[in-house]
Amino acid sequence: MNRYSRVIGTGGYLPEEILTNDQISETVDTSDSWIYERTGIKSRRIAGPNETASSMAEIAARQAIEAAQIDPEEIDLIVVATGTPDRVYPSTGCLLQQRLGIKQCMAFDVQAACSGSIFALSIADQYVKSGAAQKVLVIGTEICSRLVDWTDRTTCILFGDGAGAVLLGASEETGILSTHIHSDGEYEDLLYCPNPQAATEANKGESGFISMRGNEVFKVAVNTLGRIVDETLEANRLDKSDIDWLVPHQANIRIIAATAKKLKMSMEQVVVTLENQGNTSSASVLLAFNEAVRDGRIRRNQVVLLEAFGAGFTWGSVLLKY
Ligand code: COA
Repeated sequence: MNRYSRVIGTGGYLPEEILTNDQISETVDTSDSWIYERTGIKSRRIAGPNETASSMAEIAARQAIEAAQIDPEEIDLIVVATGTPDRVYPSTGCLLQQRLGIKQCMAFDVQAACSGSIFALSIADQYVKSGAAQKVLVIGTEICSRLVDWTDRTTCILFGDGAGAVLLGASEETGILSTHIHSDGEYEDLLYCPNPQAATEANKGESGFISMRGNEVFKVAVNTLGRIVDETLEANRLDKSDIDWLVPHQANIRIIAATAKKLKMSMEQVVVTLENQGNTSSASVLLAFNEAVRDGRIRRNQVVLLEAFGAGFTWGSVLLKY
């Protein structure tokens, strides 16, 4: 008897405050047309001063729990992907567990930058398939706006805040078909965010802000995502035409379009949220998946390819039957 991880609920949360390209153009030398043409982004959401990764995660998680119609106590594992944890420790997973009032379950964080939710889904799937967990809550939650230097026009235009959630349940029915995750630590210099509190003599005085060589990241991302698509299809002996929906990480519309082209998919089959959300790092794939499930685009038994690329570099995919 096969044992699968099946999606039983989804959720999402976006902070109230909207920051438009025009508003950013008032403080740095850029324009709405430059940003939109190069990235596909028009606006992003910014977390309020009292919001944290765990407070946003709680809202998304409660939505997923409600959709799945389960008692939070049934959850036996919480995996939170975040690069902006409330605290160094306890993990955001533990803080979320406290917020949800769950007395006994495993909870921890995964740090894989923008690929975080794909890594978290992959870990969750291993627990479910092995029988070590029955119900797993997977979260991606980020307050990127606090890691951005708002005077640096090359990065501040890209990022936004939000949280996405997926609840997986063990099932005999087909769910996650395969997951593929990869890392290559050679590329630290192209995209990183220092931790000033952990600075040595060598990097003393570094800011805590995101630093990126965007053009070089762009090229590696396009090539790498092309390869992960091939790897995923081959592992499942599937053809491009077998995929109903692409739910990509939302970094840049041109990267997304290149992956869709590789899959010979029309943009109608691609879930795009970045126009009004920007890059929400590890939250982006789960936010997009939640949106398309809730508005009825993604339907039961359709085949969905989720993929992401991020600092590290890290990259990966999840192929699932919804
Ligand atoms: N407004 C106006 N001009 C800008 C600008 C802005 N916000 N940001 C950069 N520029 C300028 C640069 O200074 C450069 O000027 P120069 O030619 O006089 O030196 C010029 O625009 C081109 O810069 P470049 O970095 O080559 O632009 P690009 O076409 O690569 O677009 C990104 C920049 C960041 C939009 C793009 O590289 C990108 O999206 N990269 C991937 C980022 C990503 O996905 N990161 C996260 C991975 S998870």
